[in-house]
Amino acid sequence: MTTLRQNRVCRSLFSQYDPHLLDIYKAEMAYGIERFFLLSYCLACCWPALSFGAKNNLRIVKQWSELEFRFPSDEAKQRALENRYYVPGSSVPIDVDVHHRSGGQMSRIFISNPRFDEGRPVTLGTVDEDGLISGYPDYSWHDNQGHNCNGMTSVFRVAIDRCSRLWVMDAGKIGENQVCPPQLLAFDLNSDRLIYRHVVNASNYIATSLFINPVVDVRGEDPNDCSDTFVYVADVSGFGMLIVDVINDRSWRATHNLMYAYPNRGTFTIDGETFDLMDGILGMALSPYSYGQDRFLYFHALASTVENVVRTSVLRNDSLISNSNVNRYAINAFPEERPNQSAAEAMDSNGILYFGLMEPPGIFCWNSATEYSPRNFHQISINKETLQFASGMKIVKNRKGEEELWIMTCSFQRVMTGSLSSDRVNFRIHAEKLPILLKKSACSMPPSENSIGYHAERISPDIPYYHFRYGAVSYL
Ligand SMILES: *[C@@H]1O[C@H](CO)[C@@H](O)[C@H](O)[C@H]1NC(C)=O
Ligand SMILES: *[C@@H]1O[C@H](CO)[C@@H](O)[C@H](O)[C@H]1NC(C)=O
Ligand SMILES: *[C@@H]1O[C@H](CO)[C@@H](O)[C@H](O)[C@H]1NC(C)=O
Repeated sequence: MTTLRQNRVCRSLFSQYDPHLLDIYKAEMAYGIERFFLLSYCLACCWPALSFGAKNNLRIVKQWSELEFRFPSDEAKQRALENRYYVPGSSVPIDVDVHHRSGGQMSRIFISNPRFDEGRPVTLGTVDEDGLISGYPDYSWHDNQGHNCNGMTSVFRVAIDRCSRLWVMDAGKIGENQVCPPQLLAFDLNSDRLIYRHVVNASNYIATSLFINPVVDVRGEDPNDCSDTFVYVADVSGFGMLIVDVINDRSWRATHNLMYAYPNRGTFTIDGETFDLMDGILGMALSPYSYGQDRFLYFHALASTVENVVRTSVLRNDSLISNSNVNRYAINAFPEERPNQSAAEAMDSNGILYFGLMEPPGIFCWNSATEYSPRNFHQISINKETLQFASGMKIVKNRKGEEELWIMTCSFQRVMTGSLSSDRVNFRIHAEKLPILLKKSACSMPPSENSIGYHAERISPDIPYYHFRYGAVSYL
């Protein structure tokens, strides 16, 4: 990037930022701290979040007080405003994912903007250098909200897999209204073409269902083998899971008590603001894959302090088509609990789990070769202001093969209490390479006698052979 262009980009970025941070950034540049990302605009404009206290190693890549969008034309923008497809200030991004590309192509940052309500002009977009959001793959997919079931209706979270595919879970709802059936889409990120669409059959969701978080399980002998793909999706308010078997293009539902919210964990206090939210299963993370082996899916409900684990072979069993109740004993909770609630989580290729915590507002790690216990939770970063409500979290591999942690924080308490205002920063994307975050971290030094998944293995019976019968209201 030329200096001129760099200055222009930085000016436009910094115009949104707090002058205090800008001074710190300038001071750091003066010391020549150049631990920057591959993204060229990051080279120009990111700074270590040292500015928020020495413990915070995550860097802020983007931040907004309010999302702004690129429309294909002024007429399109005008029409969106008139139809209330666009209500400035109402958008709330909750997820982030990144695709690093080879050659001269810039890496792309994707964010989701679910339609909790009207006024969100695009529900999935890419972020440009100026922080503006453009609809992905183009605006036509997002226009005519509620009337375009071939487009996208409401996307909460996405997942990019190792095969350069972007998996998009469209919940099909605007607010409470199921205006389109839920659908799972996949795009080839090299061509930006749609390569897969699975419209969820009515037997696999209920009136309260909301599909908010897809996790992709790609197996195969070699990295180019992408055919064996399953997608597991959290149904946050239907208290279940959707399992999509991609190669056979079919899906089913799984339900279990541990996917529900806990009433005594339904109250959240963040930055002095309190709200109630009885959300069930939300955070999900998949254990690393070794060829021919089973994988664990870790998950938790938002209104909970409990972490659960299930063998994916249980979820992949298509006998769930005839009975969605998972055997009681096949999904298990770790005996010890988190000190507080958590939204997003993700696991790296070494079996280290990263998760956000509401209080203290921060990001923590836990090595799955140790017991799931607060004793083995280690701090990655704590920040009362910038790390409020980590709603989206991804492990991303860069072109050098290094893993990076990417996080979206969205100060969700302001959304819930109606205190969102455009005079302060509400939404932030944070990132850092894992080797930097884990330097000297106890998470990277598990006991040598234990392997990845040690505790999950211990609480999960090999074959859920126990006989168990589910009750139903009609029995009473
Ligand atoms: C789709 O859903 C309908 C209505 O719930 C059900 O009757 C039908 O069997 C389902 N089809 C498949 C393939 O699951
Ligand atoms: C699938 O689930 C059924 C019912 O629980 C069970 O009988 C069967 O053994 C399972 N199949 C496999 C391959 O685990
Ligand atoms: C979260 O932490 C706060 C402060 O310690 C505490 O008051 C609250 O009860 C905790 N919430 C849960 C669900 O444990």
